[in-house]
Amino acid sequence: MRCGAGISLGMTTPAPTTTEHPTGGMFRRPLGKTGLRVAEIGYGAWGIGGAQWIGAKDAQSTRALERYLALGGNFIDTALAYAEGHSERLVGEVARRNPGTVLASRVPPKNRVWPAQSGSRVQDVFPGEYLIESTVASLNNLGLDTLDVQQLHVWDDSWLGQGDWQDAVTQLKQGGKVKHFGISINDHQPDNAVKAVEAGAVQTVQVIYNVFDQTPRDRLLDACRANGVGVIVRVALDEGSLTGHITPETTFDAGDWRNMYFGGGRRQELQPRLRAIEQDLGVSTAQLPETALRFVLSHPAVSTVIVGMRSVRNVERNAALADGRGLSDSQLQKLYAHRWDRNWYSPAG
Ligand SMILES: NC(=O)c1ccc[n+]([C@@H]2O[C@H](COP(=O)([O-])OP(=O)(O)OC[C@H]3O[C@@H](n4cnc5c(N)ncnc54)[C@H](OP(=O)(O)O)[C@@H]3O)[C@@H](O)[C@H]2O)c1
Repeated sequence: MRCGAGISLGMTTPAPTTTEHPTGGMFRRPLGKTGLRVAEIGYGAWGIGGAQWIGAKDAQSTRALERYLALGGNFIDTALAYAEGHSERLVGEVARRNPGTVLASRVPPKNRVWPAQSGSRVQDVFPGEYLIESTVASLNNLGLDTLDVQQLHVWDDSWLGQGDWQDAVTQLKQGGKVKHFGISINDHQPDNAVKAVEAGAVQTVQVIYNVFDQTPRDRLLDACRANGVGVIVRVALDEGSLTGHITPETTFDAGDWRNMYFGGGRRQELQPRLRAIEQDLGVSTAQLPETALRFVLSHPAVSTVIVGMRSVRNVERNAALADGRGLSDSQLQKLYAHRWDRNWYSPAG
């Protein structure tokens, strides 16, 4: 049996039926019904913006992006809001040198409120004209004429059929500026997009799914599978906690947003949860990232997992996992027990 990254996790699950082997490099899966085939391991470009993840160096980020593509990766997720377009500019520079790269970006909410507030009006958050302007700004940053996937950066299912955002999407597609459209679902609210998925309003969704937050398994992933909607998983490593590298002693630079996410007693609270996973699965701390990524990729609805990786080293480690292999049923059953419902994006938790 072939094991990714040389680590034996006892994987027996056959490759999900949605995978196919490309000519080399990373396994690719269909992105819903878009006709695109994307590498199982995608590249999440929030961190390389450098505004909230402090410490990113452009030259290092560019090397990491280039290495990702050289290893057979072909899917990069960025957003206009990431350092006011800086992430998009870095991604665009590399993508222009590597034709065939599939790019996704996002329209920030006009009112700059993350996540979408229940009761808010879509016309205040994503008026059609703003959606078009924002897309043009992203294309200028990327230095490209067309975006493969444009997404709304926040979403509320009550917005379906409201406002003029859907007319703007049609206009963007007809004008060739956008090929496919999706939504990035609010943190830890996967059910708050099921209506949009079932209505066929979007071709892709982006959602948090990891060993701790397993809520997408309740409804969303099945709905996506049934409706041919591509699933882009974000935060599979829980912003780094599931790498095992966050310890009670870990510190972050001033201004780094993770001071909040891992603030207070959270770094301590994490440790027994991680040790319990290691014990149940019989893995070492060093094997946690592989366990966490393979957990996500074991679900057949998942098209790709976009991992934040500012370093070449992490790109290489994760690229080695894109081999179409999932975890065994017994490993998955054990991991299902480690669900942990909480919201660390809120200071209240
Ligand atoms: N609302 C939204 O739409 C939204 C919100 C959050 C994220 N996102 C998207 O999702 C992407 C992924 O989320 P994220 O970057 O926030 O978090 P993440 O992927 O859960 O975790 C990223 C962290 O894991 C580290 N890492 C990656 N691979 C590793 C490995 N093999 N071993 C050890 N450490 C490893 C990274 O280190 P280095 O970076 O130092 O290499 C980084 O510190 C973002 O980049 C962004 O594109 C979207």
